Amino acid sequence: MKVVVIQGPNLNMLGLREQNIYGPMKLEDIHAQMEAYAKQSNIEIEFYQSNLEGEIVDKIQECMGDAQGIIINPAAYTHTSIAIRDAIKAVQLPTIEVHISNIYAREEFRHNSLIAPVCSGQIAGFGPFSYHLAMVSMVQILSEIKAMQDAQAAQQQSQQPKAD
Ligand code: DQA
Repeated sequence: MKVVVIQGPNLNMLGLREQNIYGPMKLEDIHAQMEAYAKQSNIEIEFYQSNLEGEIVDKIQECMGDAQGIIINPAAYTHTSIAIRDAIKAVQLPTIEVHISNIYAREEFRHNSLIAPVCSGQIAGFGPFSYHLAMVSMVQILSEIKAMQDAQAAQQQSQQPKAD
């Protein structure tokens, strides 16, 4: 099982950027924590960051056939990008939207997410711990999907005519 973590614009500046909102942790430290949890859960993880909307759309498309789940912090594109929303809808993979800050407690233009309606769920406001919560949720979603697939396979097997 593979999960791709996609980070939107300006998240490469975590640790330097608006520390009063996003805290002192750097993106690579957040990724190291996620990697440790993924390892423990036998999940392969890939990290991707881009400041460009089209590159994020390309990366989401590449996940089709390559990964089983997406964790995405679309950053400012959360509030503007129909293209990212359409890409998530198109690939039909379980996707979790993450925000470090509580977007609903901030400026009004951050209160609306164009991405949330096409995601399995949204996690916002727990600081860098939001990413850990997203990993825990993704592991749960993937194990539920696997259990369902196993049950379907077992049912198909039991319906096969028995050889003499
Ligand atoms: C953010 C919230 C967005 O509104 C903002 O544009 C970001 C970061 C967050 O993680 O809290 O860049 O996605």
